[in-house]
Amino acid sequence: MYYPDDLVDEVRMKNDIVDVISSYVRLKKKGSNYFGLCPFHNEKSGSFSVNQQRQMYHCFGCGKSGNVITFIMEYENYTFQEALKYLADRAGVTLPEIKYSREEKEKDNLKTRILEAYKEAGKYYYYQLRSENGRKAYEYFKDRGLSDETMKKFGLGYAVTGRNLMYRYLRSKGYSDEVLKEMHIFYVNEREGMTDMFWNRAIFPIMDVNHRIIAFGGRVMGQGEPKYLNSPETIVFDKGRNLYGLNLARTSRKNNLIICEGYMDVIALHQAGFNQTVGALGTALTSGHVNLLKRYGENVLLCYDNDGAGTKANLRAIPILRSAGVSAKVIDMSPYKDPDEFIKNLGAEEFEVRIENAENAFYYEIRMLERDYNINDPDERTRFTNEIAKKLLKFEDPIERDNYLEAICSKYKINNEHMNKLLAKLVVKNEGISEYERPRSTIISNKKETDSGIKKTQKFMLTWMCEEPKIYKMIGKYLDAEDFTEEIYCTVAGILFEQLDNDRLDPAGIISRFTNEEEQNEVGSLFNTRLNDINTADEKSRALKDLLIKIKTYSLSKKAKEETDINAIAAMMEEKKKLDELKKIKIAFEED
Ligand code: UTP
Ligand code: MN
Repeated sequence: MYYPDDLVDEVRMKNDIVDVISSYVRLKKKGSNYFGLCPFHNEKSGSFSVNQQRQMYHCFGCGKSGNVITFIMEYENYTFQEALKYLADRAGVTLPEIKYSREEKEKDNLKTRILEAYKEAGKYYYYQLRSENGRKAYEYFKDRGLSDETMKKFGLGYAVTGRNLMYRYLRSKGYSDEVLKEMHIFYVNEREGMTDMFWNRAIFPIMDVNHRIIAFGGRVMGQGEPKYLNSPETIVFDKGRNLYGLNLARTSRKNNLIICEGYMDVIALHQAGFNQTVGALGTALTSGHVNLLKRYGENVLLCYDNDGAGTKANLRAIPILRSAGVSAKVIDMSPYKDPDEFIKNLGAEEFEVRIENAENAFYYEIRMLERDYNINDPDERTRFTNEIAKKLLKFEDPIERDNYLEAICSKYKINNEHMNKLLAKLVVKNEGISEYERPRSTIISNKKETDSGIKKTQKFMLTWMCEEPKIYKMIGKYLDAEDFTEEIYCTVAGILFEQLDNDRLDPAGIISRFTNEEEQNEVGSLFNTRLNDINTADEKSRALKDLLIKIKTYSLSKKAKEETDINAIAAMMEEKKKLDELKKIKIAFEED
């Protein structure tokens, strides 16, 4: 983390959560909470609650929760640093300059200059398109069905014919050759000096998620090679970490993201209302892309061209998405080649139908596989079945694998039992990447139960302590933060115990210790889970003791497994004795 915790806390405390959220969501006071329509999912009744005392929000519909910083991160799609900066500005807190080394500082200055120069270049192209010189390009975009509004939204432009007009323009704006070279939109030539890369081309600026231009693509208008000329990677443009149109798609608030191939596909889909579309621009999808888009949606619709290259791109993208936990579907655009053509011919409504009918990625993979076999031939059918088995083994979650096994076996009329045996055989031969466990094996499923069971128990304990801090006074002496074997809970327990020792419970402050969104949600949910099941003091006493013993027993047995040091083992036996005593005592829970 860049900033000290104190400073983060200061920024947080100076931005009252009800004030901040009120400028985004209409809130109404009900009892001690404020309620409104959740900005993170679609709903008609307000399940989004904001608690002023705790400085937290929680949605009982979609489960999102957090503090004022996470709200801004989530709503504005900001990083932690960006959200902090925003809130600091809002409250008039000055954040200290982050200290850089001289080298880093120079690099940063160069980067800033390059971004400024790109912005200037983009404005120049934009202006040319709308001038008399750009009439041809303007007509070109119009012919392709783009409205003025769309052209503006994507910042489309035109590079006039000229040897070094852009170069001279940017020089006149005060940019040095060093900066201009690093932009990589000029050819450097000993005799002629620097000349423009784009001549007489329709220009598509490529922007990062913050709408900053970081590269250009230029299309010939009509025939010519290459069809698209693209500026290469630079210190501000990393192809593997940028998606065309993500700056717009990220605020679409749809529950999916569409990935397609080309500039015009993205633009045409946005114009047709599918503003959740991004483009890979002819490069293969990388895990860098997936991490980026994962921030904005967990459902991806693949919409690559309807040809051999598109199929290949789909088949390469699916495993990358799957391993990142993103669920993917494939949109069928036949009989058209790409989304741009599809929209032009069949329109947005029909595209919506295709989205609804998009094919599950696994089915798609198997269907593409099937093309390589004549499944009426017994030998080929056997090989096909073997290939399916190998693919099934790639599912790590046994339930998911089992579901797919059943579905695919019924689709291709393969006996389930045979398939199960085949999987077991492949594992023995070491062909699966994950270890194969037979579905519904009791030993394995029991083990899973305990792991997730203990996680729940630990979570429950922490939640309860936040809700009723007095229980910490009752049992705190028996518990260490390290007894929470889940790493994230251990961290939370450490901070929580410290707060409770000092009598200043501050759940929202705990969330700020986590900068990653997933962790923030996880931690946020700790403080917003309702503990309804236990009511009477007697029930509570028993439940509390039960939780405590479960947590201690698990943490002890985990230590026992890992510890080899003889002294530590002695200490552990001591702890074991304490645990046995704990089992005998009665924890008295008094009603308030
Ligand atoms: P396509 O050839 O499918 O072009 O390339 P397209 O998107 O349908 O283009 P239009 O509709 O004819 O204008 C898909 C993408 O591959 C990259 C571009 O990003 C393009 O959008 N590409 C293609 C290049 O970078 N250079 C090329 O010469 C061709
Ligand atoms: Mn096209």
